[in-house]
Amino acid sequence: MSAQEKKPFVVMKFGGTSVSSKESWCTIENLVRASIDAGQRPVIVHSALKDVSNLLEAAITAALAGEEAGAVEEVETRHMTLCEALGLDGPALLAPIFERLRQWLAGIALVGEASGRVRARILAQGELLSTTIGAARLNAKGLETTLFDARDALTSTPSPAGHGQNAWLFARCGGAADPDLQRTFHELPGAAILTQGFIARDRSGDTVLLGRGGSDVSAALFAARLAADALEIWTDVPGMFSTDPNLTASARLLKDLSYDEAHELALMGAKVLHPRALPPARRANIPVLVKCTFDPQSPGTRISARPSDLSARVKAVTLKTGIVLVSMTASAMAGEAGFLANAFAAFAKNGLSIDLVSTSEASVTVSLDAGQDLDADVLARLNADLEPLCRVRFFHNCASVSLVGRGIRTILHKLTPALALFREYPVRLVSQAANDLNFTVVVDEELAPKLARQMHDLMIDVREGDPVFGPPAKAAAPAPRPSAAPKPWWEDRTQDLLAVKPDGEAVYVYNLEVVARRTQELMTLKSVDRIYYAMKANAHPRVLKTVIAQGLGIECVSLAEIDHVLKHNPDLDRGRLLFTPNFAPRREYEQALKMGIRLTIDTLYPLLHWPELFAGAVLNVRVDPARGRGHHRHVQTAGARSKFGICIDDLPTLREAAAKAGATIEVLHAHAGSGILDPEHWRDLGQQLSALAADFADIKAINLGGGLGVPETPEAAALDLRALDSGLDAVRAACPQVGLWLEPGRYIVAQAGVLLASVTQTKTKQGHAYAGLETGMNSLLRPALYGAHHEIVNLSQLGADVDPVPVTLVGPICESADVLGQDRLLPPAQEGDVMLIANAGAYGAVMSSSYNLRAPAREIILD
Ligand code: LLP
Repeated sequence: MSAQEKKPFVVMKFGGTSVSSKESWCTIENLVRASIDAGQRPVIVHSALKDVSNLLEAAITAALAGEEAGAVEEVETRHMTLCEALGLDGPALLAPIFERLRQWLAGIALVGEASGRVRARILAQGELLSTTIGAARLNAKGLETTLFDARDALTSTPSPAGHGQNAWLFARCGGAADPDLQRTFHELPGAAILTQGFIARDRSGDTVLLGRGGSDVSAALFAARLAADALEIWTDVPGMFSTDPNLTASARLLKDLSYDEAHELALMGAKVLHPRALPPARRANIPVLVKCTFDPQSPGTRISARPSDLSARVKAVTLKTGIVLVSMTASAMAGEAGFLANAFAAFAKNGLSIDLVSTSEASVTVSLDAGQDLDADVLARLNADLEPLCRVRFFHNCASVSLVGRGIRTILHKLTPALALFREYPVRLVSQAANDLNFTVVVDEELAPKLARQMHDLMIDVREGDPVFGPPAKAAAPAPRPSAAPKPWWEDRTQDLLAVKPDGEAVYVYNLEVVARRTQELMTLKSVDRIYYAMKANAHPRVLKTVIAQGLGIECVSLAEIDHVLKHNPDLDRGRLLFTPNFAPRREYEQALKMGIRLTIDTLYPLLHWPELFAGAVLNVRVDPARGRGHHRHVQTAGARSKFGICIDDLPTLREAAAKAGATIEVLHAHAGSGILDPEHWRDLGQQLSALAADFADIKAINLGGGLGVPETPEAAALDLRALDSGLDAVRAACPQVGLWLEPGRYIVAQAGVLLASVTQTKTKQGHAYAGLETGMNSLLRPALYGAHHEIVNLSQLGADVDPVPVTLVGPICESADVLGQDRLLPPAQEGDVMLIANAGAYGAVMSSSYNLRAPAREIILD
């Protein structure tokens, strides 16, 4: 019997980021040594190096396409570089694995297909490579470690047949205590044991995978089977938070949670821990600690059966994107036995797992989570199976926002402030979890981050010496890593900006190079024939001149806008103007037609009541596409409750009225909303309009409106113009004779403008810090009106080596909504510091007012 026998096991799991650098290996060594010194037997479970699983997937795709396996070279380089940094002989250690990998990829290229079995085998090499390095490093550092093949311990349970590759790629394993494994591990030599996450074996001995994020699951299974004393999950963040720290700096570390709460958090969107890791730990009653490899001293999150606070309260707000809603309606549903059973069987048959369900007498709506195969073919098959039972509608690009906590049912009355928010956010589904741990709503994806942020502000109630909530996110976080977002232009122009900022006066500053650059980007969209700049976003004469010089047309919404653009550009061809009035008086239509400006009508009224105006006119018609999109309810412009557009059912009447008046309809137009980041939106809209165009004899173009969004925060992904273009290509290909137009506003100007305002006063009230600025909602209404988020930096202290603190930036206006940014992490503000409010070029100055008789910020151009 070895000396190790009596030592209790502690399972330590390290994620991809935690095993990818020399620095973090030094931390791991210290942690393992400390565990050994404390009389434990550490069992280290770790993932492949960061990004390696993706690269291996790319290598499979390349092999299938018969292309060179550049991805394997990249995988090899990363491992060799790490070996070198760790002082290990990479080629000697890893050559056999790379040789195998290349042979399998060559096999795929030869037969032109990759079965689930082969895919699993190839993807598993990532973990085999990284753990080979890990074990060698620990041994080299004098920590005697045995490398154990996880597949010798974890055997998958057979999965229900029929779902393609899932049996190999999403395998499940049992987590019951395993005395044999405990004995084996006790008898292994060395002070520590190191094994792979993510991989297991099926009963025929083939390698299988536990699904993405499966290393957490492996670690939990090992912990449960070994009856470990603790399961430590070492990640790149300091623990679980009351919301995603990227959403708001008010996110708090959750110090202490029950298994159920943590499981719910993970299921509802917290990405720190895989939800399947919790049930094995709970069943075996093993405490779980989520800690940060880059800040090992920080306390982390402890998850156990008995957390210190068992009172009913909301502990977190989570967000999950990429959700598809399926709405099923059938009048025969009420009282019909077996409808749900039959409908749900169709989901099971297609391998789809349902998350949320909401039912009414004649309809059922269910949600499908991303992370399963939701591609068009699967949904088409589901549709075909459901159609005999009911009418089916799919809603793509939805997101769920959940209040997660304990005893939610008993505190429903306390949710009132959160429920009041739904006035502003159209909710597609509400669900109160049967387990009493969450209250969830599903909304359009664009709205979700803002809703989550507002819910968090309203519902997370931190008390003095709180047992649940720890410090705010960033204060607990390691140094921020460089983000993928491009650097904003103003970071390089700090001195110029400070130089143009007049004393005692807030100003908007515009950079016309950015306007020109954004315009040029849009002009690369090869499927678009004409672009009109929606001047309502920013009507500064030099902005107009810049876009006109690039060849764009101008979309105007009032006669005053038309006059303004012509005043500054008297020679502009009237053919480059578009007029899109809404509920405007008759004289505006008359005047525009007289001026020869192309008119978009968005209601039947003018044609029915003033037909004489339209004799011989060529018209554009704005259709209501029925589904609104955009960053806030106020900017969504479709559906029965929106004043814009002609609904599809009224189009026959429209055609008749136009014919009677003697007008020709040449363009169908739709604008569903503003601030859309999903490139598929314009493809869907294009398909919808081109289908409608078939009923119009003279259609020459379809105008897909504007709405092209820009991310509010550096973390959010920008609109993918290439994806937008390829979606429009598809529309184009289906109707090659019809032109495509766009009329973007925000995309061209938002990032080109900043608002500069100095700090007037500071104050702290009951622990909340405020900095007052010389202007507020009178200059920039968007935060008050839409809850819009604008990045704010202290320009005077940019780059200063000072610890940031949370502060709320407010203006001098006599309204509580006069807040430009809530709880922002900034260096402590001083009177006179100049704050920069970013992304203020669109819908900033144009929406300003002189409320309280305070003049709004002037506009200046940075030359
Ligand atoms: N076309 C039509 C018919 C529009 O109504 C609009 C904007 C656009 C084009 C340009 O949309 P953009 O590309 O800028 O999203 N004040 C709000 C935005 C209101 C948009 C009104 N219509 C905000 O600050 O977010």
